[in-house]
Amino acid sequence: METNLYSYQFRTESDAVPQRSAPIKLTKLSFPLLRVIDLNVSIQDKQILKDINLQIPEKSITCIIGPSGCGKTTLLRSLNRLHDDNADINITGSVLVDNEDIYGKNVEVTHIRKKMGLLAQRPTVLPMSIFENVAYGPRIHGIRDKRKLYGIVKNQLEAVGLWEEVKDRLKSPAIRLSIGQQQRLCLARGLAVSPEIILGDEATSALDPIATTKIEQLFVSLKKEYSIVLVTHTLRQARRIADYVAFMYMGELIEFGSATEIFTNPKHQLTRDYIGGSFS
Ligand SMILES: Nc1ncnc2c1ncn2[C@@H]1O[C@H](COP(=O)(O)OP(=O)(O)OP(=O)(O)O)[C@@H](O)[C@H]1O
Ligand SMILES: [Mg+2]
Repeated sequence: METNLYSYQFRTESDAVPQRSAPIKLTKLSFPLLRVIDLNVSIQDKQILKDINLQIPEKSITCIIGPSGCGKTTLLRSLNRLHDDNADINITGSVLVDNEDIYGKNVEVTHIRKKMGLLAQRPTVLPMSIFENVAYGPRIHGIRDKRKLYGIVKNQLEAVGLWEEVKDRLKSPAIRLSIGQQQRLCLARGLAVSPEIILGDEATSALDPIATTKIEQLFVSLKKEYSIVLVTHTLRQARRIADYVAFMYMGELIEFGSATEIFTNPKHQLTRDYIGGSFS
């Protein structure tokens, strides 16, 4: 995979205000797992996302940053078709996962969702036991064998560093766990259906610093196997864990590049101002 494809610069230094981003040139050699092409999203006739073009590199952490209300959550939800239930929303453009347009005809939502695990701002444990929370997805996907289910649950709880903490109380309600543990449980629940992509929307904002560090370390270790896209308005978090950064402003993708590029040598004045703390 070519690195320069991901350092694609969406704006030139001379741009004073956001303009329509140029389409990405797609090459036959490079097929990133997740590609957003000319994505426009409007809600009740208000345009929320404007001509977003983005390629998410595989097996790395991409952080989406930008001021409140710039469209980060809307973009993330578009990647997982989480807007489907909103009749007021209009979406045009494509989101390609494994080269398949998730907005294409005859594409089933469950098929798309299986490829992605979403970690929300606050943990959303199911009102059932710790074990059942992780077994839930695999059961839905037809796994009935108890030993197999136990193996999956154990593996995923180990993967999120929760096994030792909960192995003696797998049958107790998940809601009794601390918020940080609940968030790790949600991550384990997502991983249990073998996704390719992990999406996180401010996934640590409800957590204390220690729980935040644990989740951040998990993301870093998980990127060996998964492609991770995280929305964060904590620049420090993006600095700590991002490999790539997408900066958004007022519904537009202003700049995308490696974390080093964005944090040390941003191309666009708006990115510089945001990184420099001129606005938040
Ligand atoms: N369901 C909705 N109906 C109407 N407007 C919406 C809806 N969802 C989002 N918006 C608007 O879309 C814009 C982008 O919202 P979004 O939640 O994507 O921003 P964000 O970057 O995630 O902000 P934050 O950092 O505060 O979470 C905002 O102006 C918001 O008010
Ligand atoms: Mg948001």
